[in-house]
Amino acid sequence: MNAYDIFASHYDAVVGQREDVALFLQKLLRTYAPRAKTLLELGCGSGSMLKILSRRYKAQGIDLSSKMIELAKKKAPKAKVSVGDITRFSFDEQYDAIICPFDTINHVTSFPAWKRVFANAHKHLNPGGVFIFDVNTEAKMERYATEPVFAEIMKNEISIVDVQRVRRYRYLVNLRLLRREKGALYRNHEVLIPELVVPTPTILKELSNYFTRVTLVDPDRKKPSDETEDLFFVCQGPR
Ligand SMILES: C[S@@+](CC[C@H](N)C(=O)[O-])C[C@H]1O[C@@H](n2cnc3c(N)ncnc32)[C@H](O)[C@@H]1O
Repeated sequence: MNAYDIFASHYDAVVGQREDVALFLQKLLRTYAPRAKTLLELGCGSGSMLKILSRRYKAQGIDLSSKMIELAKKKAPKAKVSVGDITRFSFDEQYDAIICPFDTINHVTSFPAWKRVFANAHKHLNPGGVFIFDVNTEAKMERYATEPVFAEIMKNEISIVDVQRVRRYRYLVNLRLLRREKGALYRNHEVLIPELVVPTPTILKELSNYFTRVTLVDPDRKKPSDETEDLFFVCQGPR
C-alpha cells in the first residue's frame, strides 16, 4: 500500500474539491489547445479535476493508488480511470491534451523518473497536442518549511499541513486530519509524502528535448518570478 492508499478517505477533507483549479486548467486548455477533445490526467487522485474536465473532454486518468482510483470512479463517472504509474504507463491511444496537475510530478522523487514522465507524455500526445503540468517551487516549499505550521478548523475535522526540509530540494509533506469521533475526541490520521523540487532551468532544458514551445504560467501573478509558488508548464510542438 502506498501513502495515498492509506490516506485516500481523508484526502479530500484536507485539500478540498479545488473547482477553481479545474476551471483554471480548463482555461489553459481552451487557450493552448482550443480544438482538444481527448484528455489524459497523470496522477488523477480522487478525480476532482476529471469531475469537471470530463464534462467537456473525453477524459481518462491514471493513478498509482487503487484507493484514489476507487474515489475517482465515483466522483468522475464519465471518465475512464485505472491504476498505473505515470513514469511507466503505456496506452495504445494518443491524446490531444495530457495534464499532470497539483504538484503530482514533485511526488516523483528522482529526476531520471521525471524525464521518463516527460518522454512518455510526449509519446502519448497527438500531433498539435499539449502537455500541462505544475510544480511546487523551492520558494513555496521553503516558505512552508520555515513558517509556523497552520491548521484549518472545519465542523468535525481539523486539517494540518506540515512541511519539513530533508536537504536541499528534498522535502517531507505531512498531511494530517484530526477527525471527530466521539464528543470532544478526535482521531489523528496522517501520512508523510516525500517531494522533490527541481530548478526551473533544469526542467526547461529537459523539456526542450521533446517540445519546441514551453510557456510558463503563474496563476497568482502576471509573470513568473522568484516568488512564484505554483508554476505551470504548458508544453507544445514540434508537430
Ligand atoms: C497531490 S495528488 C493530485 C491529484 C489530482 N491530480 C488533483 O489535482 O486533484 C497526487 C496524486 O499523484 C499520485 N501519484 C504519485 N506518484 C505517482 C506515480 N508515480 N504514478 C501515478 N500516480 C502517482 C498519488 O497517488 C496522488 O493521487
